[in-house]
Amino acid sequence: MSEIKTIGVLTSGGDAPGMNAAIRAVARTAAYHGITCLGIRRGYNGLINGDVVELNARSVNGIISKGGTMLFTARCPEFMTPEGIKKGADTCKYLGIDGIVTIGGDGTFRGARDLAASGVHTIGVPATIDNDISSTEYSIGFDTACNTALDAIDKLRDTMQSHERCSVVEVMGHNAGHLALHVAIACGAQAVLVPEKPFDFQRDVVEKIRAGRINKRSHFIIIQAEGVGNSVDITNRIIEETGIDTRLTILGHIQRGGSPTARDRVMASRFGEYAVHTLMAGKTNRVVCARDNDICDIDINEALEMKKDLPENMYMTSKIMSI
Ligand code: F6P
Repeated sequence: MSEIKTIGVLTSGGDAPGMNAAIRAVARTAAYHGITCLGIRRGYNGLINGDVVELNARSVNGIISKGGTMLFTARCPEFMTPEGIKKGADTCKYLGIDGIVTIGGDGTFRGARDLAASGVHTIGVPATIDNDISSTEYSIGFDTACNTALDAIDKLRDTMQSHERCSVVEVMGHNAGHLALHVAIACGAQAVLVPEKPFDFQRDVVEKIRAGRINKRSHFIIIQAEGVGNSVDITNRIIEETGIDTRLTILGHIQRGGSPTARDRVMASRFGEYAVHTLMAGKTNRVVCARDNDICDIDINEALEMKKDLPENMYMTSKIMSI
């Protein structure tokens, strides 16, 4: 283990439930080893401006159950320029920061890669409700977002059933359909539209609703990933082509809030602890990954080049369950 005296931790990009639990894990692991931990506020902006707050074991009391991030988060265009990266590296030098844990998604990891190239040791911790980071099977926040969406859709189902309506529900996920697919299986949707799978609107939506009606199905739930396109158009097409009374619900940022589930708290705690130990081992430009029920770390460049597919078997599950 190398002699690390001070580390930084920041959250960047879209927030995710469990980020606070990860901050707590980093601060507590650092405290356990006698390392000073600085919380860098507002993502890479805070690194550029030296906006930091010292975190000890007690200053992260009570945050494990809180959504959002106590360090605030931001997307920082300046950190995409050589000048911004240099300012960030200079701040680290000035504050004596030996290594930084960056919590977020691929954009956050690109910042960590650039900072590592300037000589600051970095490690990324995956956190996004989209679960679209290719190098890891799991990202902090995904389970909570699934459950938040599910809770809302269960409520929607009650009123859709009473009125014998169709409900189109747009869920987040950026350009990926992981959240939509999980939610669709868990809520028993009749169709799921995701960017990774080309769909035939007539066959996959209209015919399903027609067949469902013939089979005495009273109401329908269609889950649409935001990456698929305009959910207003899809809703209108359903009304035009089936005649069924249809309502659109866009769940939006509600999915990013709320108290993290046990799974997110545990994963965040494990990821955060692992990240500090990786820095202590003298590694840099790494990202923490969940794989085969274990945790490992890989090179950030390698991680950023990977592709993540939607699991084919899960897509099939959603199809079979929707008859
Ligand atoms: O990446 C997380 C995410 O919530 C995506 O699902 C969504 O497309 C995007 O962020 C929304 O970003 P913003 O908070 O800037 O509206």
